Amino acid sequence: MGGTEGGGHAPGRGTGRAARAGPAHGRGAGHPVSWRVRVATPADAEAIAQVHWDSWVATYTGVFPQASFDAFPLAARREVWQREAANTAPGRRLLVAVADLPASDAPVLGFACLGPYRRQPHEAAEAGAGEGELTALYLRPGHFRRGIGRALWQAVLQAAREIGYPALRLWVIAGNPAERFYAAMGALPVGHNVFDAHGTPVREHCCRVDLSSTD
Ligand SMILES: CC(C)(COP(=O)(O)OP(=O)(O)OC[C@H]1O[C@@H](n2cnc3c(N)ncnc32)[C@H](O)[C@@H]1OP(=O)(O)O)[C@@H](O)C(=O)NCCC(=O)NCCS
Repeated sequence: MGGTEGGGHAPGRGTGRAARAGPAHGRGAGHPVSWRVRVATPADAEAIAQVHWDSWVATYTGVFPQASFDAFPLAARREVWQREAANTAPGRRLLVAVADLPASDAPVLGFACLGPYRRQPHEAAEAGAGEGELTALYLRPGHFRRGIGRALWQAVLQAAREIGYPALRLWVIAGNPAERFYAAMGALPVGHNVFDAHGTPVREHCCRVDLSSTD
């Protein structure tokens, strides 16, 4: 979810059954303390884009140069997520975690996007063949470390199994605290890459989880 992130990819929706209630976490004082995971709809696209932007700012400021932000502004993200939420091609799923409030008031707290693995140019032809990719997993700043990421991850794994992917891959920027999240989720590093983010070399790691051996 580094250099290749975001756009090019149009995950769709599958069964629509990926609903998961969140716990009433103690660390959420002052914020909604319960939430649920469901399949996204096009009506979520604007909120997803805003979460994507805000989470990028919180996570990648000082990692990516300003030009990377300029090249992928909020308006472009709206288009990307609108397209992806509307895409019903098999093998794809876009999930949101929403606060457990009446639908009209329920803010999107985070989202995750699953699709077929997008082999990178430097990889061997067979790399990730037939496998799934977590192409985006982002929470609204202020809602980290409450278990929402774990719930989205578990919903993604469930969706990946339903689709029939034998494994799931993802790319994470080296040094991002998310590396520790993925390690805790059992996704192990299997490769790395350095890409050019508008003149800044950025290292990213590929992590993989075998779905036949994961709970
Ligand atoms: C990465 C992210 C999705 C994780 O979701 P989260 O809800 O914050 O994580 P959870 O609360 O579910 O954490 C589950 C476990 O992962 C590990 N973990 C999560 N964040 C961690 C961190 N910053 N440092 C160390 N371990 C971490 C812990 O073992 C944690 O369990 P614990 O809280 O009981 O100790 C979220 O923090 C986020 O959106 N970050 C910014 C965007 C980003 O970097 N996305 C990934 C792009 S590749």
